[in-house]
Amino acid sequence: MATYNNLTIVSHPLVQHKLSILRKSSTPTRDFKSLVDEIGTLMAYEALKDLPLTDVEIQTPLEPCMAKKLVGKKMVLVPILRAGLGMVDGISRLVPSARVGHIGLFRDHDTLKPVDYYFKVPADQADRRFVILDPMLATGGSMSYAVEKLKASGAVDVRAICLVAAPEGVETMLSDHPDVPVFTAALDRQLNDKGYILPGLGDAGDRIFGTS
Ligand code: PRP
Ligand code: URA
Repeated sequence: MATYNNLTIVSHPLVQHKLSILRKSSTPTRDFKSLVDEIGTLMAYEALKDLPLTDVEIQTPLEPCMAKKLVGKKMVLVPILRAGLGMVDGISRLVPSARVGHIGLFRDHDTLKPVDYYFKVPADQADRRFVILDPMLATGGSMSYAVEKLKASGAVDVRAICLVAAPEGVETMLSDHPDVPVFTAALDRQLNDKGYILPGLGDAGDRIFGTS
């Protein structure tokens, strides 16, 4: 399998087990939604493992001691609508102070290019750490565009979490935004002629929201 220096594949057994259930066409919407949420939590554990800490003195019931506390930029989760919404709660549970921005994009079925319909993120972008969420990185057009919008608004610290990536999407991100680390649960084989990931899991938005 090709390796990319912008990509981390989260190989934790719990992630891999849950991803297999997610992929199955027989997995119903209710389970699909909760698995995206759970895998989101597990992915965040890995994707945020470089967060800086500082030493602080605290008081336990027995004595004072030195302990660790997160410092640095405030976090903003940025789901790409719609499917990215499915990952927000699972990650917010780990970082309840994180704010949430939204980027509305859908892929034009013919051109596979992202169509932009919404953008709202907290101000003071340069002082924040942005985490883009989208289960699928296919051609990479949507994620690359989302990063472009964030950077244009002043963001300098951006990373992305997806669940299934195609080599084409990882290469797009590497060429357009080599400074943006991408975390995925799987790097799949290829895209089909309609831009769907193979073997993939189908249309993530439709499976999360029960549309088709
Ligand atoms: C899906 C997915 C990504 C995008 C990936 O969204 O959630 O945003 O496609 O494809 P790309 O890497 O080729 O850009 P979709 O356009 O289906 O919108 P939806 O989430 O609203 O269903
Ligand atoms: N978007 C999806 O939801 N699934 C794919 O396989 C590709 C793009």
